[in-house]
Amino acid sequence: MRFKDKVVIVTGGGSGMGLAASRIFAAEGATIAINDVKAETAEKTVATVESEGGRAFAIPGDVSDAEIAARSVDATVERCGRVDILLNNAGIATIQPAEDYTEWHRVTGVDLDAPFLWAQAVAKRSMIPNGSGAIVNISSLAGMVAYPGDVGYIAAKAGVLGLTRSLAVEWARHGIRVNCICPGFTDTQIIKDMEAIDPDRFAERRRRIPMQRAARPEEIARAMAFLASDDASYITGAILNVDGGQIALSSGWSPA
Ligand SMILES: NC(=O)c1ccc[n+]([C@@H]2O[C@H](COP(=O)([O-])OP(=O)(O)OC[C@H]3O[C@@H](n4cnc5c(N)ncnc54)[C@H](O)[C@@H]3O)[C@@H](O)[C@H]2O)c1
Repeated sequence: MRFKDKVVIVTGGGSGMGLAASRIFAAEGATIAINDVKAETAEKTVATVESEGGRAFAIPGDVSDAEIAARSVDATVERCGRVDILLNNAGIATIQPAEDYTEWHRVTGVDLDAPFLWAQAVAKRSMIPNGSGAIVNISSLAGMVAYPGDVGYIAAKAGVLGLTRSLAVEWARHGIRVNCICPGFTDTQIIKDMEAIDPDRFAERRRRIPMQRAARPEEIARAMAFLASDDASYITGAILNVDGGQIALSSGWSPA
């Protein structure tokens, strides 16, 4: 029960890693405020958490909208008294050649602007006044290394590493820890959508994972729980790869 009576905001909590994290944190005693742009999937996660004996409520809306971030954090503070943990998890990706890329603002809005806006809102309204908090940002293997076809995603996810370090050093004196996870290939909707666009490329990609399988969303969520918990009480500004060895293999070789 590492999160007994803690209040957690999860962005993009309607599916994938956000759903897995909601269940894991709730099972360890937290109340979960679940954001998602799809209100019905946020409500579905609420129902799942409640059916497992946990506490959750929905704060739906577009994560990249500053007003929605402020309003959602206010609503959570009003309802629960504070926010202890923020999981900046919502993300989108696309596949487009850089020279024809039209999604820059949409992708960087969700993947980079939003983690900043939500961190700023929770810090200002709750964590700084309370003198404590933990923020976990979800970047990507794409934040560490590049691949062709999604310049906005790769630039945004690399930006999340800088955002993490910057907030970590600035807010350490307020008792707020800020860390980052770089998941590798993980079996969630975002990957299913991309695989549907280019199945051959993704089949080859799967073969190049040293552990020879994609992550399960729970495996990323458990790393979020570690970084958000007191088990990580002296860890801030860290970038944790949870990727089955994928970044270790960025030599261009295939796994043996
Ligand atoms: N799946 C992977 O292989 C992988 C690898 C590295 C990083 N990531 C990152 O992990 C995070 C979680 O993704 P996932 O794999 O669970 O994918 P997912 O598609 O299952 O979940 C993402 C969630 O974010 C929500 N979302 C999208 N746009 C939003 C918006 N504007 N406002 C609010 N919610 C929005 C979606 O509705 C969805 O519920 C993302 O940041 C993603 O970039 C995923």
